[in-house]
Amino acid sequence: MIRINENYTKLKASYLFADIARRVNAFVAANPAKPVIRLGIGDVTEPLPPVCVDALHAATDEMSRRATFKGYGPEQGYAFLREAIAQHDYAARGCVIEPDEIFVSDGSKCDCGNIQEIFAADLRLAIPDPVYPVYVDTNVMAGRTGANVDGRYEGITYLECTPANHYVPAVPSVATDLIYLCFPNNPTGAVATKAQLAAWVDYARKNRAIILFDSAYEAYIRDPQIPRSIYEIEGARDVAIEFRSFSKTAGFTGTRCAYTVVPKTLMAADAAGQTHPVHALWNRRHTTKFNGVAYPIQKAAAAIFSDEGQRQTRALTDFYLGNAKLVREAMTQLGFASIGGDNAPYIWVNTGRDSWEFFDLLLNRAQVVCTPGAGFGKCGEGHVRISAFNSRENVEAALTRIAAALR
Ligand code: MLT
Repeated sequence: MIRINENYTKLKASYLFADIARRVNAFVAANPAKPVIRLGIGDVTEPLPPVCVDALHAATDEMSRRATFKGYGPEQGYAFLREAIAQHDYAARGCVIEPDEIFVSDGSKCDCGNIQEIFAADLRLAIPDPVYPVYVDTNVMAGRTGANVDGRYEGITYLECTPANHYVPAVPSVATDLIYLCFPNNPTGAVATKAQLAAWVDYARKNRAIILFDSAYEAYIRDPQIPRSIYEIEGARDVAIEFRSFSKTAGFTGTRCAYTVVPKTLMAADAAGQTHPVHALWNRRHTTKFNGVAYPIQKAAAAIFSDEGQRQTRALTDFYLGNAKLVREAMTQLGFASIGGDNAPYIWVNTGRDSWEFFDLLLNRAQVVCTPGAGFGKCGEGHVRISAFNSRENVEAALTRIAAALR
């Protein structure tokens, strides 16, 4: 009989957010009169910026006319978008990234999950704990880990993020090959300083390793001292791939557009020690397995780089950061230590108790959904993540309900 990829049997039965959705749906079905407020999965609630909507309309009209209709576009993305990204997200911040080093895609989740397949099956992984589950799960699926023993997969060097290191992990004492970093961090909301990122770039250069840098939340950084891109660190072009997304920057979670930067100077070796440009491998993978993001969506994404687009997206992220501030203040008033929320849309609350129990308590007593920290890894136990993505009205109502439930 046909056999399965048995690596899948090492995974938990369902993806974290699917698991939470199942529990919340069961609660809603059993309690139809109790409206639930969702501050769990980081899904945006506010409408697309008007510049994006206008661009979508105009591009849709182009698709309706023979003269301007478009079929397949370049798999890597249209030049107008790649050039705008290179100019506004990199050159303007002093980073040297060429438009053809940018691969436009339908989401950072997909890119973060898929990138590992261009690397060797037996490489040494370094992954933070707690962490966005996609980094771990996709490596488990690919067979790079052993079994899950006591909440941790054999074969991963876990980078512990705890109150003691302010949730920013130090470089490990052992050599590793592929390192996942995410700043502003999901789930903790922590940010890394230039010196902290420089230590990682230095480590990667010494170990001839590659950093996979997820900066999907960079638009939330307000502290001008905090780097928005790994390429703000000298030497990073030779050791890092960066993932960015329009999802949380411009409300594209349902519209789908993101990009991955693979510098042409980034090299990796084969078993014989001969080096190869990683850019060529990713280009091969991308052109084989992906046919590009829809033209109207790319036009909508490019619209955010106009002056008006920058104002509108700034207002959008400011709005969610306003929610985050309210959440952080409310949790402090309730006596909980927390981080995040100032340069990130997530607040990481140290509850001091079992995180699934706390999740159940908020769901049952306040009808508020958060994300239990244990779902992000062993070090997430004792914490919950509260997302700032919702309307102001819902956030205020949720905080009132949480205060009442915990009193
Ligand atoms: C989250 O809640 O962690 C995010 O929504 C996940 C994602 O962007 O895929």
